[in-house]
Amino acid sequence: MLNGRHLRIVVCGAGPAADVLRLVEAAHEQSWATTVVATTSALDFIDASAVTELAGNPVRSTYQTPDVGGRRIMPPVDAVIIAPATYNTVNKLASGVADTYPLTSTAELIGRGVPTVVVPFVNAALAARAPYQRSIAGLRAEGVRVISGPDDDWTPHPPGTGTDRRAVFPWRRAFQLATQMRPRGLSS
Ligand SMILES: Cc1cc2nc3c(=O)[nH]c(=O)nc-3n(C[C@H](O)[C@H](O)[C@H](O)COP(=O)(O)O)c2cc1C
Repeated sequence: MLNGRHLRIVVCGAGPAADVLRLVEAAHEQSWATTVVATTSALDFIDASAVTELAGNPVRSTYQTPDVGGRRIMPPVDAVIIAPATYNTVNKLASGVADTYPLTSTAELIGRGVPTVVVPFVNAALAARAPYQRSIAGLRAEGVRVISGPDDDWTPHPPGTGTDRRAVFPWRRAFQLATQMRPRGLSS
């Protein structure tokens, strides 16, 4: 039985994307409905059919909305989790670039104050770049919960070690944090 709450998962093109079903399962265990939005790059990492089947909604990458029984379905969103969030998407999202459906729709949800959690999967070389550090700080200043840093026990990995980190990707922690956040501003 669903509890009426809906989680939007935005998955980007990095190794842990292949495990996004773990987040769908965590949400379903707490009776949340789910929709998965994939960047074009992420489509190379996920089994879109399997994700659609488990999530219960078609994986979306474009503005085309699923048409069910002649009605266009766009469920209200109670929380957003961007995971894994690539270097590319973190920087674009923070700087306001909106040139794809995943970026535009997420930008709007953040602007509405919908609880949003970002889980970067970025190596230490990329994370050392000043633009990335500004992006993380900027997203946090907007009220986005970015899981990153020693306090979160989730730090950028040395280049070339991403495969080892995939197994400990904090899917469940991301969901737990998203459910604890309160909506801000326009979200109601
Ligand atoms: C096999 C493979 C693994 C990748 N792993 C990562 C990664 O761990 N983190 C990252 O930020 N980018 C990674 N990339 C690069 C991104 O996929 C690339 O920057 C892409 O443009 C991201 O697009 P998106 O942010 O729209 O998903 C990887 C690319 C490939 C082909």
